[in-house]
Amino acid sequence: MQVIICKDYEEVSQEASRLVVNLLRKNPRAILGLATGSTPIGLYQNLIRAYNNNEISFKDVKSFNLDEYLGLPRTHAESFYSFMHRHLFDHIDIKEENVHLPNNDEDTLKKDINDYTEALKKNVPDLQILGIGANGHIGFNEPGSSFDSETFAVDLTLKTRIDNLRFFNHIDEVPTRAVTMGIKTIMRSRQILLMATGEGKAEAVMKMIKGSVTETLPASILQKHNNVVVILDELAASRL
Ligand code: F6R
Repeated sequence: MQVIICKDYEEVSQEASRLVVNLLRKNPRAILGLATGSTPIGLYQNLIRAYNNNEISFKDVKSFNLDEYLGLPRTHAESFYSFMHRHLFDHIDIKEENVHLPNNDEDTLKKDINDYTEALKKNVPDLQILGIGANGHIGFNEPGSSFDSETFAVDLTLKTRIDNLRFFNHIDEVPTRAVTMGIKTIMRSRQILLMATGEGKAEAVMKMIKGSVTETLPASILQKHNNVVVILDELAASRL
């Protein structure tokens, strides 16, 4: 694991975008695994800037998002589908047919989950971008999730729902379930970039890097991947 410690969120976002821009310049057909949440927003803003400056293009890039809520239509402002369009896809030249997020239609859920797993086996991400939950989750692989899982439907913990309450008006509006890439799927990616900022992530980051590899701290599995870059601000790195 390569660990880079930056001063603040802005530097973390700059460092992360340098890595992604270099990848896209070397490989304009790259397959990107993408995350939602607060952490990658600065990275996405920098990528939009690099696109506008003609440093990179996404016209041959394919993307696969980590996860999506169940119980929210894609058109809902807080679906990850809407989030990704608002923060990235609407501002770059990625083709809509190259954008993939787990489908969240309950009627076809089983088949869609299987199809997502198969699509990810054929399209192994060159780079998977990750955030980390305060409880050590990656994607929505909550503590206790099997390291052997591919895409699956998951019940969200109350902790994760409370963490995500900031995007909704009331806890009852925060979805209770989601579809997520499994740990095995994430670990197949050629390279992984995990970003974390703020004191609230410090304990999970410390356990991810220095703790034992255990399903109770899902991110600890990254110790077993041979190409992981972790970019932290000083607060997230404060317990290392
Ligand atoms: C998002 C995702 C989650 C977040 C994590 C951190 O697609 O899979 O694992 O990366 O919950 O969220 P933020 O960045 O909002 O602190």
